[in-house]
Amino acid sequence: MRKIRLVIVETSIEKVPKELHKHPAIEKDAKRRKRSPNKILLYLPVHYTALASKGIPFEKRGRPDILHRLLLTILDHPLNKMNLLELYFHTINDEIFWVNPETRPPIHFYGFEGLMIQLLEKGRVPPAGETILMEKIDKTIEEVLKEDDRKVYALEKRGKDLSKIEIKNIYGNTVIIGGFQKGDYREDIKALIDYRISLTQHTLKATTAACMALTILYQHALP
Ligand SMILES: C[S@@+](CC[C@H](N)C(=O)[O-])C[C@H]1O[C@@H](n2cnc3c(N)ncnc32)[C@H](O)[C@@H]1O
Repeated sequence: MRKIRLVIVETSIEKVPKELHKHPAIEKDAKRRKRSPNKILLYLPVHYTALASKGIPFEKRGRPDILHRLLLTILDHPLNKMNLLELYFHTINDEIFWVNPETRPPIHFYGFEGLMIQLLEKGRVPPAGETILMEKIDKTIEEVLKEDDRKVYALEKRGKDLSKIEIKNIYGNTVIIGGFQKGDYREDIKALIDYRISLTQHTLKATTAACMALTILYQHALP
């Protein structure tokens, strides 16, 4: 069976912007955790007042916890353990990272944050050595989604019911899921979508959507 390329798109993995380093909410958080403001990820639930004070729009920003939960869920899924997934994530800043299917992300958010800082700074985790767990990929989102003429299936509430889709056709192609809290895919990403798949009429958290979709795909892969 050919692997499914699963790409988490537009997820917010970014360091706290320099212009916010001196804001009391950032200084307090950094001090409490004994870290430099340059070594922490922007995290809306804690840094909201800093972003709001500068009038910075944050619809898809400051939620690295979404990627954290997605990675924990996807990497633990039997479809991944059957080696039927190729996993990538794409950030709101258009960086793309490959994830080794054997990666076991730290369960503590601060541990995960440390890993992401290393990834942003060094381009890979761990920074040296033969085994690579995550690595920056020098390709555009279009190249990753469409490589080798792959079709792109997007998980989306307003898509076609998954039960009406020929599931075997998804194998060997790309599935995308929004790694963000609110809103729709970006226009340039929408333009790359071939099929839209809906799991339910309800808006789901990305983790729930990923788990549901992978489980349906997994059931199809069973002998
Ligand atoms: C929290 S949702 C994104 C925000 C949502 N569109 C909104 O405006 O509130 C994150 C991702 O989960 C997936 N998702 C959520 N609900 C879904 C559904 N009913 N069917 C398929 N995918 C869904 C989509 O990939 C979506 O981009």
